[in-house]
Amino acid sequence: MTASDWAFLDSAQGSKLSELFSVDGGRVRMWSMDVGGIWFDWSKTHIDGPLLANFERLAAARQFSARRDDLFSGRIVNPTEGRAAEHTAERGEGAAESVQRAKAFHGRMRSLIDAIEAGALGDIRHILHIGIGGSALGPDLLVDALGRDADRFDVAIVSNVDGAALKEVFDRFDPHKTLLAIASKTFTTTETMLNAESALNWMIAAGVEDAQGRVVALTANPQKAFDWGVDETRILPFSETVGGRYSLWSSIGFPAAVGLGWAAFEEMLEGAAAMDRHFRLAPLGENAPFIAACVDLYYSQGRGCETRAVFAYDERLRLLPSYLQQLEMESNGKSVTAEGMPLGRNSAAITWGGVGTDAQHAVFQLLHQGTRLVPVEFIACIEPGHELDDAHHRQLLNNCFAQGAALMAGRANADGARSYPGDRPSTTILLDQLDSRTLGALIAFYEHRVFANAVLLGINPFDQFGVELGKEMAKAMDSDAADFDPSTNALMARAFG
Ligand code: F6P
Repeated sequence: MTASDWAFLDSAQGSKLSELFSVDGGRVRMWSMDVGGIWFDWSKTHIDGPLLANFERLAAARQFSARRDDLFSGRIVNPTEGRAAEHTAERGEGAAESVQRAKAFHGRMRSLIDAIEAGALGDIRHILHIGIGGSALGPDLLVDALGRDADRFDVAIVSNVDGAALKEVFDRFDPHKTLLAIASKTFTTTETMLNAESALNWMIAAGVEDAQGRVVALTANPQKAFDWGVDETRILPFSETVGGRYSLWSSIGFPAAVGLGWAAFEEMLEGAAAMDRHFRLAPLGENAPFIAACVDLYYSQGRGCETRAVFAYDERLRLLPSYLQQLEMESNGKSVTAEGMPLGRNSAAITWGGVGTDAQHAVFQLLHQGTRLVPVEFIACIEPGHELDDAHHRQLLNNCFAQGAALMAGRANADGARSYPGDRPSTTILLDQLDSRTLGALIAFYEHRVFANAVLLGINPFDQFGVELGKEMAKAMDSDAADFDPSTNALMARAFG
């Protein structure tokens, strides 16, 4: 990979958004598309034909199509760990044997859910799901987005090792009616194992008969779960080749499958599979994840943008920004290439964001008038998720669309403090409605966008060694011989005595 691969960005046209619109009356048509009920509008970004053509040339140089085929055919795409990345097989799009294995694991999950519904594990009303990172963020997003009106089970997802997080659930769940789902790909993550132990002890202390019999394990390491004391019949395995932050489609999605019902879970897989097919088959110039990645890279590599901001103009999607933070930053926050060479340029931008309209009254000042350029992504749904007066949804969408328009148009004023520079880019993603199928497709879109970014940058998006050093040091702190730098030693002395 050489700097000249990206030289086209230095000479990319510097037209303003308003100019792009005025020279091309068909700009909205050209830079918008519908994929399975999701409307993507990139027309308020600086993407244009020549830029896309250059990215397509870069993609050819990076053997993008071959890399994508590798992803879908179960070949090794994670060279540092010598693994395939088979999250698409979970939704039926992958190597035949991997799809078959995923189906078998799903079948097992479904049978266990049927058994729970039939009362085989007792009178279960509450599901306490314990996991962290990819073993929590995805399920949490699904349950929060789609489960608001579900009346099947109360689902709580606890990730933080701070006891206050568990206590909050202990205060409202009946231990006699609780099923404990321990979600950990490795079944070794210290926070999860401590939370699991405390939750089990809470059930035992409350006198739950056969508390161990109320534990379900969601893991790619069934032996460890068995050693922890989970009966084989309640271990829901998934494949080692499904990465943690890509695992909500596997048994890690258990709280969604049990909380929303199996049909909803399957619809989510189908929605994702439809997006998989789009990503695999659509020409790059009409390929939503690819175009989105080009826009990302134009700003992160061509315009020096350090961050990108995502705002969900729908309360049901309030957890999307934090879900995307792990997906994008753990995947593409790397400083070496897949071959281990220095990247020599910025890796992925920092993802941050929040919920519209709240964020407008908190952080949008910087977006409109700050010195930094932040590409913004708006996500909204045409159909509201409630039955309150239409005025709510109308105002919500008005605000969403107005922000994009204002960022782009700006407004000059002789008084600098009242002047808006404008020409600030935004993408709008508008869902017809928020249902399992559409949410599955949306999440799969983001996964493939991350993959497309990674291929164009030359990064391996499927490892995460960056998180290991801190974990190791946290463990070492429990040792009597713990000795760190003077500042850390002083903090430990003050806290632990
Ligand atoms: O520390 C990061 C990480 O490894 C994530 O990639 C993963 O999603 C999370 O920890 C949880 O890991 P596990 O599912 O193995 O408990």
